[in-house]
Amino acid sequence: MNIATTPSNNAVIEIIIFGGAGDLSTRKLLPALYMAHLHDELSDGTRIIGVGRQDWTRQDYLDLVNSHSPSFVEPSEFDDGAWQKFLNRLDYVKLNLSLADDYHKLKAASSASALRVFYLATAPSLFTVVCANLSSVGLIDDRSRVVLEKPLGTDLASARAINADVARHFKEEQVYRIDHYLGKETVQNLVALRFGNAIFETLWRAPYIRSVQITVAETVGVGSRAGFYDGAGAMRDMVQNHLLQLLCIVAMEPPISLDADDMRDEKLKVLRSLRKMSLADIKRDTVRGQYVEGTSDGQTVKAYRQEDGVPAASSSETFVALRAQINNARWANVPFFLRTGKRMQKRQSEIIIEFAEQPFSIFGNGPGSEPSRLIISLQPQESIQLSMMVKEPGSGMTLHPVKLGLDLQSSSDKRRADAYERLLLDVIKGRLTQFMRRDQLEAAWMWVEPIIDGWQSLDDKPRNYPAGSWGPAASSALIARDNLAWFEEA
Ligand code: BG6
Repeated sequence: MNIATTPSNNAVIEIIIFGGAGDLSTRKLLPALYMAHLHDELSDGTRIIGVGRQDWTRQDYLDLVNSHSPSFVEPSEFDDGAWQKFLNRLDYVKLNLSLADDYHKLKAASSASALRVFYLATAPSLFTVVCANLSSVGLIDDRSRVVLEKPLGTDLASARAINADVARHFKEEQVYRIDHYLGKETVQNLVALRFGNAIFETLWRAPYIRSVQITVAETVGVGSRAGFYDGAGAMRDMVQNHLLQLLCIVAMEPPISLDADDMRDEKLKVLRSLRKMSLADIKRDTVRGQYVEGTSDGQTVKAYRQEDGVPAASSSETFVALRAQINNARWANVPFFLRTGKRMQKRQSEIIIEFAEQPFSIFGNGPGSEPSRLIISLQPQESIQLSMMVKEPGSGMTLHPVKLGLDLQSSSDKRRADAYERLLLDVIKGRLTQFMRRDQLEAAWMWVEPIIDGWQSLDDKPRNYPAGSWGPAASSALIARDNLAWFEEA
């Protein structure tokens, strides 16, 4: 079977999840695979093997899955009979990931004819040893695929080292670096919107676009993930991957086809065109924040430094806002404002394309005059709206903004799969388009790492912002310098 061929319905497929008992597996991967099972998207021969270090029987593992995963399935999609059949697909293997000999147990549990998908939902420090040990017992063949969860390294050097180690055992076309934002329906719709509608493509450039805002705001705090998050911060956790991937889709040139490498070549060019920031740029164009006590969803919530597992003097950022620029002909002088944070006022992920104002307006620039904006909302609702000026009814010629809206949820009867489900099915089908290639990942680090280093050398401490707000005041000031405002504050 060719690597990019959709397996037949009776193909034997094994999805082997390292970290099978972990949070990602029980909260996201298994519910996503259940949905694929429920909707007949998995071949009859698909099995799922959870790999963990706990000394468990298969039944212990099923008990864990049973107690954690069903609550992450939409209640209307939960069918007890289907769930029990789904559980029949599951198996468990206890492994000490560092012990090569242990991998013989996995080999014994795996069918020789299976197409194997290895999903590495473990700390990235284990990626190297897992790949080497899989290889040493002969579990990797030309059809195998490996899925690497983020974070892929903590800086350029560690990302390169992981990529080089994985490449010793898997060819690049067998490697699926997952960024679940690329599996979101609206993100994929952005490609359709841009390249399937001539009216946008002609205007999609300077000087017709005045600015772009990309916001991923969450109301949740760090939760139980302090161990990982405090060492990473929002820049590594969100900007280096999700926000830059969104920026790539907004800014890329039309690819020559939808093939994986044609798409990824264009995204890579965007990352390489991002203007590198000097220390002066970092000081002026970036804002780090950290939440202090405040109110979120009507509840008083703790400061970041008081969360379980967070050092009392932590200087990790839970918020970043920055002004980026792309050095190419299409985007010269168009500022891209990126912003992400935990414990923000609303859960809201959106891309705002603000079009330039008219060079001359016969209506004047009085109150009510606003530039047109394309508002692409990814979360919590998926929608695309174009805000335009129309005349207010009555005598006179007063204008006011009205939104022309596309409600994506009700635009089709077809089921909208969750990002992980869609991406897992892409892996099984050998579709690489929505996964990051090695050079893309490294290019993203090349832009992000100097900013993180710059913060260190400038001794830039995060500014406080109350939980439940839109971040530090400096974030509003950052965008105000361009005579603009964040969309919620406009
Ligand atoms: C993950 C980050 O990649 O994305 C988390 O590690 C973040 O910190 C999550 O909460 C957000 O994903 P979503 O799909 O809920 O917006």
